[in-house]
Amino acid sequence: MHAFAADPALPKPALYRELLAAADGLTADEPDGVANMANLAALVFHWVPDLNWAGFYRLIGGELVLGPFCGKPACIRIPLGQGVCGTAAATGETQRVVDVHAFPGHIACDADSRSELVVPVRRDGAVIAVIDLDSPSRARFDADDQAGIEALATLVAARI
Ligand code: SME
Repeated sequence: MHAFAADPALPKPALYRELLAAADGLTADEPDGVANMANLAALVFHWVPDLNWAGFYRLIGGELVLGPFCGKPACIRIPLGQGVCGTAAATGETQRVVDVHAFPGHIACDADSRSELVVPVRRDGAVIAVIDLDSPSRARFDADDQAGIEALATLVAARI
């Protein structure tokens, strides 16, 4: 069994360095993308403090389709350009949203969510998925969280 756990006292850059090392160890030798996404969602959910949802949406047939996650059941399909996830996938740009209630078109899957971080995953230059983190706290995510999850997206792009 893996005993992955973060030290809550760690400064964020160190927390994300260790998260990346754990993510690398979990996925390096496993060719099954679903297994890797499932473990990565669980790892992020338990490692990053103050989340109510963490997981993947995959870009399939021109829309986002729900992938492995931790949290409450969520919207299954999101059109490109809609909501925070659809905007990240359509623009290829990370969306760091201080208050989802103020984001035009935000899709409320879980009423607890207050802030959100969505990072595109690119393979060979094209967006193939997004990593979505939701928090019940306003302005939960800062530049360190964004850099950490963007590094995770780069690490796992060929493994999901
Ligand atoms: N809030 C997202 C939808 C996905 S859930 O947060 C899991 C959005 O606006 O795209």
